[in-house]
Amino acid sequence: MKRRYRDYAAPRLYEIAFDTNRKVEVDFLVHCFKRYARIRVHRVLDIACGTGPHLIRLADRGYAMSGLDLSSENIEFVRQRLAAKDRQGELRVGDMTDFRLERLVDAAICMQDSQGHLLTNDQLLAHLRAVARAVRRGGLYVFDRFVASSWTNPARSWSWFKRRGRLIVRASFSALNRVDPVSQIFHERMTLEAIDNGTRRRYRQSHLSRMVFPQELRALVALAGGFEFVQWFFGFKPHQILERSKHPLIMVVVLRRT
Ligand SMILES: C[S@@+](CC[C@H](N)C(=O)[O-])C[C@H]1O[C@@H](n2cnc3c(N)ncnc32)[C@H](O)[C@@H]1O
Repeated sequence: MKRRYRDYAAPRLYEIAFDTNRKVEVDFLVHCFKRYARIRVHRVLDIACGTGPHLIRLADRGYAMSGLDLSSENIEFVRQRLAAKDRQGELRVGDMTDFRLERLVDAAICMQDSQGHLLTNDQLLAHLRAVARAVRRGGLYVFDRFVASSWTNPARSWSWFKRRGRLIVRASFSALNRVDPVSQIFHERMTLEAIDNGTRRRYRQSHLSRMVFPQELRALVALAGGFEFVQWFFGFKPHQILERSKHPLIMVVVLRRT
């Protein structure tokens, strides 16, 4: 855990680099809350909230937000972002396999394949049970996961850059590298290079992540108890039902608390 705690040690650069598809993702989350929950969604927990791209946007749209992350640096970063907007949020450092909230939420989210940090099915089961304890009946749990859709070379990589004022962040990210067919564990790599007024700083991260197969995930949800499967998607648009894609890169899963 210690090692992963250090993994997301450059929150500002991460936040700038990954300020990519976030609005579309949040639009989709709000759509799911309205379409699939059996209760009105107001209180939302962002699990492994990272630097808060979804948490902040949902707070901006009037949701009462809580955030949980293993990294105290990320939690502090989100705290400052909320404070700068004069907004409230219940933020805590914690492990997604073992947490309890003082007050139940109407929905939970876990974005950008953060569940991939759970390297065994036992951890994933513990996680699903912890989330079930936190969500009100009729409420939702929405999350996205990478899916390998090729047996020969599922690896994918991306490079891009973002500018914020004078700061330029060059990012490269690759996932699904060297998937082990037995453990389903793969390598994820990220490089962020900050160019600020002629000075360069480079930040590298590499960690293990794990993929689950869609049917395996459904079996785990049934085994964990507490949630029913509602729908899944291969992207963040309501018509992108997972079965309609032959080569999905991600699955976005909607569960409802029973
Ligand atoms: C890929 S980042 C995603 C962050 C954010 N959800 C986003 O969409 O940008 C993964 C996050 O998971 C957190 N994390 C890793 N293991 C965790 C655990 N066991 N419990 C809670 N958070 C964890 C990391 O600190 C990191 O912030």
